[in-house]
Amino acid sequence: MYRIAVVGTGYVGLVSGTCLSDFGLSVTCVDNDIEKVNKLKEGIMPIYEPGLDEIVKRNQYYQRLKFTTDIQTAVEKNNVIFIAVGTPPAEDGSADLQHVEAVARDIGKYMNDYKIIVNKSTVPIGTGKMVKRIIKEELEKRNLQLEFDVVSNPEFLREGTAVYDFTHPDRVVIGSESDKAKEIMKGVYRVLYLNETPFIETNIETAEMIKYASNAFLAMKITFINEVANLCEKVGANVQDVARAMGKDGRISPKFLHAGPGYGGSCFPKDTKALAEIGKKYGAAITLIEQTVQANEKQKRLMAEKIEEGLGGLKGKELAILGLAFKPKTDDMREAPSLTIIDELAQKGARFKVYDPIAMDEAKWRLDYIKDKIIFCHDEYEAIEDADAVVIITEWHQFRNLDLNKVKESLKEPYFFDLRNIYRRHLLEEQGFYYYGVGQ
Ligand SMILES: NC(=O)c1ccc[n+]([C@@H]2O[C@H](COP(=O)([O-])OP(=O)(O)OC[C@H]3O[C@@H](n4cnc5c(N)ncnc54)[C@H](O)[C@@H]3O)[C@@H](O)[C@H]2O)c1
Repeated sequence: MYRIAVVGTGYVGLVSGTCLSDFGLSVTCVDNDIEKVNKLKEGIMPIYEPGLDEIVKRNQYYQRLKFTTDIQTAVEKNNVIFIAVGTPPAEDGSADLQHVEAVARDIGKYMNDYKIIVNKSTVPIGTGKMVKRIIKEELEKRNLQLEFDVVSNPEFLREGTAVYDFTHPDRVVIGSESDKAKEIMKGVYRVLYLNETPFIETNIETAEMIKYASNAFLAMKITFINEVANLCEKVGANVQDVARAMGKDGRISPKFLHAGPGYGGSCFPKDTKALAEIGKKYGAAITLIEQTVQANEKQKRLMAEKIEEGLGGLKGKELAILGLAFKPKTDDMREAPSLTIIDELAQKGARFKVYDPIAMDEAKWRLDYIKDKIIFCHDEYEAIEDADAVVIITEWHQFRNLDLNKVKESLKEPYFFDLRNIYRRHLLEEQGFYYYGVGQ
């Protein structure tokens, strides 16, 4: 019987642990954030993720899912231990592995039997080996010779659709030197295996590389269409038509071809930077990704310039900002384009009325440093009331169907900056708006 411990109960750990318990497995989720664990024990979710709380509560009820801060007992009592802690960027852009190292050390300190240690965090190539070395060191300190295997099992879930993605993955990647560990991992994911999910078995380094290469490729695709959009604006082309036509080509696919304010979130920015650093470290620079990182930073600043130019200056202007999360259906604002864009606009003299359906609590502390320039509103129409312009940064569904008459009446001047291209220019212009999209 597989008994699972998941160390790190954030977006990935909580979703993975919960879904594995819903597969019928016994799961203990560990975190060193006591407040988070106490809330979870009471059924209060630390993150917004559609559908998650219901599954958490169901599996807590059946006692398949537990939350604890006690890593020692979790390591001792379980045999498959996932590491799902954060790997944020260090100063130089490389991944900061201090949390992974700390967990590996704890596992080595407390393990008492054969264990499989599964790296689910996104980690640089070579981290699997590092985890193995740290655990060995700790076992040597205890004069113990216990068998264990390390597996790299990167996670591809997307925030906002995390539960669906975990339970319907395009593929499950299992990297290990040990056939025994691979077989046990297939057992853990047996429910998916029966559904004919493709399983890709590799060595650890390949599995680690698959995750970075996948994320970097998607970030590059977004950046490509953003740069094409910028050129479209100069030459009188429409990027949406360009993207639609490109996407019809099966070799290209329509996904991740939406021009906008640049990618953000907790993964693409840090994973592109980390891959670029790994490339440099090994003398095999991935120059496309180095360029992608730079172009994405530029894209966010271009959005602020677009608004400044459109309004003929920002001094004393009050902007209605709709959408702050890095994408819809999440409250995550890590590296959200809204943060850079608002910061740039604030430096140029703008003030803000902001609204996001879910991310307001996140936004309040992240934007606290300019709180005298920001009013946090209860809905989109309160934000728009008497503003000099409306700026859509995140394409929440409810912003796709704004009452345009009401918007026009509420604004001081009908300036409409649609950084996600969710409106059609001609429709807005017919209604008398000054419309600015991206690449159209
Ligand atoms: N968020 C995503 O959409 C996503 C998708 C795929 C992969 N990933 C990767 O998964 C990893 C985790 O990302 P996340 O977004 O879930 O991070 P997160 O910050 O939401 O969660 C990390 C959790 O680990 C806990 N933690 C840190 N050190 C610990 C320790 N020593 N012991 C116990 N708990 C500890 C933190 O308190 C936190 O709750 C990262 O490597 C990330 O790149 C994230």
